[in-house]
Amino acid sequence: MTERESPAHPLKVAVVGAGPAGFYSAAQLLSGKALQGDVRVDLFDRLPTPYGLVRFGVAPDHPKIKTVIKAYDKVAVKDGFRFFGGVEIGEDVEHQELADRYDAVIYTTGASHDRRLGIPGEDLPGSVAATDFVAWYNGHPDAKDLSFDLSCKRAVVIGNGNVAVDVARMLALTPDELKVTDTADHAIEALSGSEIEEIVVLGRRGLAQAAFTTPELRELGELEDADIVVSPEDVELDEGSRNWLERDGADAREQKNVALATEYSTRTPEGRKRRIVLRFLASPVKIVGEERVEGIEVVRNELVADDDGWLSARPTSETETIECGLVLRSIGYRGRPLPGVPFDDQRATINNLDGRVLDPETAEPIPGLYTAGWVKRGPSGIIGTNKKCANDTIAQLVADLEAGKLPTPPKHDDDIAPLVAERAPRHVDYAGWKRIDEHEVALGEPQGRPRVKLVDVDEMLRVAHAGAAAD
Ligand SMILES: Cc1cc2nc3c(=O)[nH]c(=O)nc-3n(C[C@H](O)[C@H](O)[C@H](O)COP(=O)(O)OP(=O)(O)OC[C@H]3O[C@@H](n4cnc5c(N)ncnc54)[C@H](O)[C@@H]3O)c2cc1C
Ligand SMILES: NC(=O)c1ccc[n+]([C@@H]2O[C@H](COP(=O)([O-])OP(=O)(O)OC[C@H]3O[C@@H](n4cnc5c(N)ncnc54)[C@H](OP(=O)(O)O)[C@@H]3O)[C@@H](O)[C@H]2O)c1
Repeated sequence: MTERESPAHPLKVAVVGAGPAGFYSAAQLLSGKALQGDVRVDLFDRLPTPYGLVRFGVAPDHPKIKTVIKAYDKVAVKDGFRFFGGVEIGEDVEHQELADRYDAVIYTTGASHDRRLGIPGEDLPGSVAATDFVAWYNGHPDAKDLSFDLSCKRAVVIGNGNVAVDVARMLALTPDELKVTDTADHAIEALSGSEIEEIVVLGRRGLAQAAFTTPELRELGELEDADIVVSPEDVELDEGSRNWLERDGADAREQKNVALATEYSTRTPEGRKRRIVLRFLASPVKIVGEERVEGIEVVRNELVADDDGWLSARPTSETETIECGLVLRSIGYRGRPLPGVPFDDQRATINNLDGRVLDPETAEPIPGLYTAGWVKRGPSGIIGTNKKCANDTIAQLVADLEAGKLPTPPKHDDDIAPLVAERAPRHVDYAGWKRIDEHEVALGEPQGRPRVKLVDVDEMLRVAHAGAAAD
């Protein structure tokens, strides 16, 4: 373990992005496990609210998952920790301004944008990125003015990951199921009036290759007012899939998914208000419609195995058009470049090796620059995955510190706070966020909801600062 020289030389680290990866990075730095002595962590987020996708991604009907924030709140009370909410790095404060003041800068900015299908009709009204839909129902301020036409009878969700399952489930919840959650008020109102009767979830590969996890699949079969429909043909496995499931080190999750969906295929729909239909081996080729989405053309796929047995989808000549008024494209998230930070456009991650950011010209680490979380490794993995990821990055930072490879920043003794006050005068500290939090929880209490989310940044800032004046 590395001992810092003396309190006169604190190790100053800026962490950019207050999602799980940001909090786990801060936690490890301040834990006393990797480093001892005077360590100071400033955690920045572009929003006044911390927690990233725990607040704006995790489905509102999964409140238990969100209790992970208790661990983050414990980090926030540690000596040496400061939160700067409402400060966008690359916009309010430049990367170089951080690099000039901190011994190390760690980017944990996530991957909040959508991947494109690249098919005709993708931009027709009614064709929606799941990233936007999720942000909207979760009350992300960037999505507060979006609206979705839910007056059609059928929606098609493209993709077989857990986000596709979340989105399908949210479309199938009843007003009673919704009204006890922290779903944004605008979304509760719209979803409660939805006329959608059928939600088709489309996987380009087979059931055995679906990315969703079994508890999430199970929930689809336990909804209050929605039937789950899987055709017997769709659970019939081809030879490649059978081999895949029986391979050495096979994933038990895939086997459980197949068993559960097979059970679904034997169910007779009970005439509930909505139906969720799982379909496999079908890829979208075109979204069709004159003024807006009227349907989606899909091609039937077959699976082809490579030498390792990995199964890919190959289109056949068989196509069909599924009539629908809403298409939700849920094929994964994508990171965005930050000014001044090397970005690998192909992988949509910060250019890095094990968390050390690399100069793309030399492929050498840039001293003092690190990354963790989805923007380091791409948009996969659950909340807990980011803990190990962050700890791995901190291990690199500590190794560099021990090897004397951290740079001496020219303005090490300059506190960032005056610069932030000048550039983002209405930013909030953790106490300011806690005032927003208390306000939201108090609004939710009489309605039996965990909170009523504020969705407008000005309103958040008003609450955060009004409380400060009263303190
Ligand atoms: C829809 C959805 C549902 C999910 N549900 C679950 C679930 O139920 N259970 C589970 O375990 N996992 C779930 N996950 C996965 C989990 O949310 C992620 O693993 C995790 O949030 C990734 O953490 P992160 O810190 O890398 O990114 P994020 O959580 O995205 O955090 C990044 C943060 O960086 C901030 N930021 C971005 N750019 C800047 C900038 N320039 N300056 C300052 N701040 C910036 C953002 O505002 C954000 O707060 C879900 C993911 C999605 C998309
Ligand atoms: N409850 C939870 O724990 C929870 C909830 C939500 C999210 N998460 C996690 O968050 C991460 C991100 O989830 P995600 O659902 O966005 O991503 P994901 O798990 O990577 O799933 C993406 C899906 O999109 C499909 N896809 C990709 N490109 C496609 C294309 N061009 N056409 C058709 N389909 C395409 C993929 O199919 P292929 O397999 O064929 O590529 C896959 O089924 C995952 O790790 C997930 O587990 C967890």
